[in-house]
Amino acid sequence: MIIAIDGPAAAGKGTLARRIAKEFDFAYLDTGALYRAVGLSLLKQGIAPTDEAAAEAASAALDMALMDDPALRAEATGSAASQVAAMPKVRANLLDFQKNFALNPPDGAPGAVLDGRDIGTVVCPDADLKLFVTASAEVRAERRLKEMQERGIAADFDAILADVKARDERDMGRKDAPLKPAEDAHLLDTSNLDIDAVFLRAAAFVKERL
Ligand code: C5P
Repeated sequence: MIIAIDGPAAAGKGTLARRIAKEFDFAYLDTGALYRAVGLSLLKQGIAPTDEAAAEAASAALDMALMDDPALRAEATGSAASQVAAMPKVRANLLDFQKNFALNPPDGAPGAVLDGRDIGTVVCPDADLKLFVTASAEVRAERRLKEMQERGIAADFDAILADVKARDERDMGRKDAPLKPAEDAHLLDTSNLDIDAVFLRAAAFVKERL
C-alpha cells in the first residue's frame, strides 16, 4: 500500500503523514528532508543555493547525516531546498531513492507513506491513495509562527508569510514536477480543521483502501 501526500509548505502534511504511518504501521518518508539536505549541504559549504553544479553534486552523493541536523528545519534551509528543488538534475538524482522506498519499505513494513510536492504526480503516480493537503497562506504562516515560538525561536509573522508565499510561487511555478494535485487526489483543506479532524478523514480513506 502506497500513500502519497502532497501539498504546499506548512499545510500539515508531515504531521498527518507521520500519524497515518504510526496508525497503520507503515514506513514514512519525508521527501522534503532530502531536498533540505541538499540545500543545507550547500549552505554549510558557503555555496549559494543557485549553484547548479554544486547542488547536482550534493544530490548525487547525499550526506544522510544531514537528515538529523537541527539546521535541517530552519527557514533558510527550506528556502534553499526550494531553490535546488527547481533543478531537474537534482530531482532526477533523488528520484530512485524515493521510488525504491515506496516499493520496498524498510523493515518489511506493509506500506509506505511519502509526503512532498510531486509524490502523487511523479514519484508514485500509481499510489493506492493520494491526498492533497492545503490551507490558506495566512493560516500556514500562523501555524509556522506558533511552531517556531514553541521552539523558542524568534519569528516575525510578515516575514514568515512572505517566505511561505515565495516558496508556493517557486514550487508551483517550476517546469519540472511543479506542485499541483494529481487528478485522482482527494483534496483536504485544513484551514478550518484541526489535526484530529484531518487525521480522521484521511484514516477513513486508508481504511477504505485496505
Ligand atoms: O516539505 P518541505 O518544506 O520540507 O520541503 C522543502 C522544499 O523541498 C519545498 O519547498 C520544495 O521546493 C521541495 N520539495 C520538492 N518535492 C518534494 C518535497 C519537497 O520539490 N517531493
